[in-house]
Amino acid sequence: MQKLSAAVIGASGYVGGEIVRLLLGHPNLEIKFATSEQFAGKPISKIHPNLRGATDLKFCKISGVEKVDVVFSCLPHGALLNKIAEIEKLGEWIVDSSADFRFRKKADFQKWYPDSPAAESADWVYGLPEIYRAEIKNSKRIAVPGCTATSAILSILPLVKAGIVDKEKIIFDLKVASSGSGNKSSIGSHHPERAGVLRSYSLGGHRHTGEVIQELDLPNVPGYSITSTPEVRGIVCHAHAFLNSESEIDDKVVWKLYRDAYGDEPFTRIVKDANGINQLPEAKILSGTNFCDVGWVIDSRAKQIVAVAALDNLGKGAAGASIQCANIACGLEEKAGLEFLGLHPC
Ligand SMILES: NC(=O)c1ccc[n+]([C@@H]2O[C@H](COP(=O)([O-])OP(=O)(O)OC[C@H]3O[C@@H](n4cnc5c(N)ncnc54)[C@H](OP(=O)(O)O)[C@@H]3O)[C@@H](O)[C@H]2O)c1
Repeated sequence: MQKLSAAVIGASGYVGGEIVRLLLGHPNLEIKFATSEQFAGKPISKIHPNLRGATDLKFCKISGVEKVDVVFSCLPHGALLNKIAEIEKLGEWIVDSSADFRFRKKADFQKWYPDSPAAESADWVYGLPEIYRAEIKNSKRIAVPGCTATSAILSILPLVKAGIVDKEKIIFDLKVASSGSGNKSSIGSHHPERAGVLRSYSLGGHRHTGEVIQELDLPNVPGYSITSTPEVRGIVCHAHAFLNSESEIDDKVVWKLYRDAYGDEPFTRIVKDANGINQLPEAKILSGTNFCDVGWVIDSRAKQIVAVAALDNLGKGAAGASIQCANIACGLEEKAGLEFLGLHPC
């Protein structure tokens, strides 16, 4: 089978670099262009040293990209929207990592991104295969979810779908590693300020909350707090949800809900062991993979279920998810190029 050609727009960034890495090992997609406005002409491995020896490709400007089959866009939000007419001419399929087209209603986008231009996203599908696999299959425009939104939605989706938790009182408590903020430094990312620190970063009002409301169809704004951690990759989400019924919930019932939702999923795994040190999802062993691990604990005294999800923000949270969506949309094997199992110990 002839490989489909691909371009990565914004390839000098963390998500773009990870997509380039995945494409270099992909059996059916071949990278032809990788853009960076500031590093045009330089070898990709100058910026992504892990790719040394794997490709001779050099960065080019967006204006130097020729028509390919699939365009992966990894620009900050707002930037793709500004160039959408130009980018749409470059590829049959467009897979975007930014927030620009994630909201079905323009007004909802404006609520969470009041300072950014908003677009109509009627042609776009939300790139979460666990909900929209059939739609992604038939789509040429895919908006990959925000990394914390993916973990929040997947943690609790089976419970919300089953109606056993109170949708008005869910609290998402997230721990997020530093690469989630991209490769531009700031005072908060400066080593002496960040190393070893667990910092309350966003207590309420985080922009990804809007996606979670949209996808879980929540009646109000849930609690959504983020703690930034000193790790480089990884997100762990604890979703605290109160049971609708006063009666005790049987763990077997919850097992069935998660199995029904994720039993056939190639990248969303149930992790819930009775003993051992890895009883619930952990992010570290997922580094570089496209897995999202999910589990839960029933806290009967608090009448709560605490649902847990872990993933690599650059994996299932962005680049891996982009490849997974492209595989589905282009009719390729869904797991193609995404077989890496992670490292242990790491
Ligand atoms: N980091 C994560 O964990 C994560 C997870 C999910 C989604 N996302 C989203 O994915 C996108 C990329 O994130 P990132 O972390 O990779 O960001 P990043 O490291 O800051 O990289 C941004 C890239 O966009 C390019 N760029 C910036 N402004 C541009 C413009 N006006 N025109 C053309 N190119 C421009 C930069 O290229 P130059 O070399 O030309 O400056 C760079 O390659 C963002 O929308 C982000 O919200 C990130």
